[in-house]
Amino acid sequence: MSRTLIVTGGASGIGAGIVGAALAEGWRVAVFDLPGPGLDDAKERLRDEKVVCLGVNVTEEAAVVAAVDEVEQTLGPIAGVVNSAGIGRNTPIFETTADQFRDILNINVVGSFLVAREAARAMQGRGGAIVNITSVSGVQGSEGRVAYGSSKGAVNTMTRIMAVELAPEGLRVNAVAPGPVDTPMAQKWHGEAERRLWCSSIPMRRYGAVSEIVSATLFLLDDEKAGYVTGQTLSVDGGFTIAGLMNGSED
Ligand SMILES: NC(=O)c1ccc[n+]([C@@H]2O[C@H](COP(=O)([O-])OP(=O)(O)OC[C@H]3O[C@@H](n4cnc5c(N)ncnc54)[C@H](O)[C@@H]3O)[C@@H](O)[C@H]2O)c1
Repeated sequence: MSRTLIVTGGASGIGAGIVGAALAEGWRVAVFDLPGPGLDDAKERLRDEKVVCLGVNVTEEAAVVAAVDEVEQTLGPIAGVVNSAGIGRNTPIFETTADQFRDILNINVVGSFLVAREAARAMQGRGGAIVNITSVSGVQGSEGRVAYGSSKGAVNTMTRIMAVELAPEGLRVNAVAPGPVDTPMAQKWHGEAERRLWCSSIPMRRYGAVSEIVSATLFLLDDEKAGYVTGQTLSVDGGFTIAGLMNGSED
């Protein structure tokens, strides 16, 4: 099998989990992440002819165009994309500045759009799948997520629009919306009180594992298993987004 997958944010957390699992499934993998120690570690870890690790800021249009072209030249035809690069913030409305809001929209929405658009241009007419990693914060109105939640809600809408417009090209576009997952991002933003709050609001009373987000993503990438699924946002969240009254959530 010679299918190439681009994973943005593939040097850390959920993206890194997807890279490892995709390689085990036989994909060739291109990691797009910011230049720096995280990407250097990934290069060291992933010494394999089936992998390229590129220093790409997904918000920079020319860099994304060049990187997608380089991937097609070095690894062969792109057949899948996972947009996992993202940043989060938990900031009340009155403390959220325009710069913070723009920064989050730029990386989470514009960055995902640029990579999806360029990969779709390459995959046009020959088939492929795009999966955007969004968040339950893009579905529910949680406090402190005015910028982050808005960005993920935008990605969910973008997923539906791209699914419709790209279906005639043989491309499927879906999203995975994780609940809280123990990654460097969650470790940075979730203190003890926040972790208790999450667990009391989740019917399954726990954080998700990276492997649980990875398997949902690989399912949506798979044309045999998910060949008739497009435009969907699959919540992988222990029931957080469907929950109503729960016994014990006052503990
Ligand atoms: N961890 C969670 O609890 C959680 C929950 C819901 C959704 N998510 C989403 O999952 C995705 C992955 O999150 P994670 O927890 O693995 O975070 P992470 O911080 O471990 O990984 C994110 C990666 O994205 C990269 N990145 C950031 N800005 C970039 C840019 N401009 N260009 C290229 N790469 C960039 C970072 O360098 C990092 O390697 C994010 O989109 C996040 O919003 C995470």
